[in-house]
Amino acid sequence: MKQVAILGSTGSIGCNTLRVIDALAGSFGVSALGAGGNVELLAQQIEKYRPRVASVADEAAADKLRFALKQRSVPAPHIGIGVNGLSEVATCANTDIVVGAVVGALGLLPVYRALELGRRVALANKETLVIAGELMTRAAEKSGAELLPVDSEHNALHQCLRGEQRKEVKRLILTASGGPFREASKAEIESATRAQALKHPTWQMGAKITIDSATMMNKGLEVIEARWLFHASADEIDIVVHPQSVVHSMIELVDGSLIAQLGVTDMRHAIQYALTYPARHPADLPALDLTTLSKLEFFAPDPERFPCIKLAYQALRAGGTMPAVLNAANEIAVAAFLADQIKFGDIARLIGAACTEHTPQAADSLDTVLRADQWAREWVANAITANAQAASAT
Ligand SMILES: NC(=O)c1ccc[n+]([C@@H]2O[C@H](COP(=O)([O-])OP(=O)(O)OC[C@H]3O[C@@H](n4cnc5c(N)ncnc54)[C@H](OP(=O)(O)O)[C@@H]3O)[C@@H](O)[C@H]2O)c1
Repeated sequence: MKQVAILGSTGSIGCNTLRVIDALAGSFGVSALGAGGNVELLAQQIEKYRPRVASVADEAAADKLRFALKQRSVPAPHIGIGVNGLSEVATCANTDIVVGAVVGALGLLPVYRALELGRRVALANKETLVIAGELMTRAAEKSGAELLPVDSEHNALHQCLRGEQRKEVKRLILTASGGPFREASKAEIESATRAQALKHPTWQMGAKITIDSATMMNKGLEVIEARWLFHASADEIDIVVHPQSVVHSMIELVDGSLIAQLGVTDMRHAIQYALTYPARHPADLPALDLTTLSKLEFFAPDPERFPCIKLAYQALRAGGTMPAVLNAANEIAVAAFLADQIKFGDIARLIGAACTEHTPQAADSLDTVLRADQWAREWVANAITANAQAASAT
């Protein structure tokens, strides 16, 4: 039985991972669970899976968790706190697979520690590779760790690339649903509300990635993620808008053949693949019924209405610490939009301004990328405060 540690067990990917583990009864156990503040759900998970290590965001959450476990008469596992706690989850003894499913830069250190130990990392937390792709892939190469994508597009690419020679692959083609504003005008997108932006047409996901899908920064981050996972250059990675989200991504070979992976929009498929690879286990999951599909459409993305796509390619080409700045600026801007502090259109403007202000350095250590990340967070937070003050003065 393989032991799995989950970073972000109470989130959308985390809960789906536990559903996959349930469905594959007897194949996987749970060694450690890391969460933030959803203590009630974490206590339920600890009662059911009995991990040896758990982690929460802060001391207050740890106290609540101990209380919730006592009420259930469940012995408390070792409880870690914050990023250190997540690292304890990632490095918990006798663990085979670490699922990276927290949101944003938070996953960086824990995932790095797991890769250093040579563990398989099933990675949903794409921001980790955006911020420090070179360091992560180098750590994996050094220890022999496997880095398997859970993100559905990259999971699809991984499946398409099985058995192909890298030199015979011409292009990686990431599909994008286009999000809720695929057909909206520039003016409608500029002033889109939180409720409109949170209404993803095809996928059920956490709030941050849903907003990233609405700005299409999600696809931009995925381009950078693909660069590191598949050793491809920016010129070899394309985006195509595919509103039905049936084709999860494709590769084009040098002879012009396209190979695609198709499926329903259920993340459990990608999670199961990353857990069981290279084996394929029978899955009691919804299957794709081709006869019910009326059409499959593909369009070129529109970087004018979705400037985040351009910003991500520019950051990838600039290299070094620029993708870390892009990611951190996006995290702060998305949080501000979700807190009704900025307009939807401000998200891309703030990211663009932060990237313009930044002079990239070589991303040769975690300290360097974390400094760039911190600089961008402060720069964008200050810009939001300054804009709010200017607005209230007029
Ligand atoms: N959802 C999808 O279908 C999907 C698809 C592809 C890729 N991804 C990627 O997968 C990652 C997770 O996405 P998601 O949609 O599953 O996110 P989510 O539903 O928002 O879950 C986030 C998880 O992170 C935890 N967390 C938040 N703040 C924390 C903190 N300060 N300390 C420790 N843990 C904290 C949350 O814990 P609490 O809830 O306990 O606070 C929760 O377990 C993201 O990088 C996303 O881009 C997601």
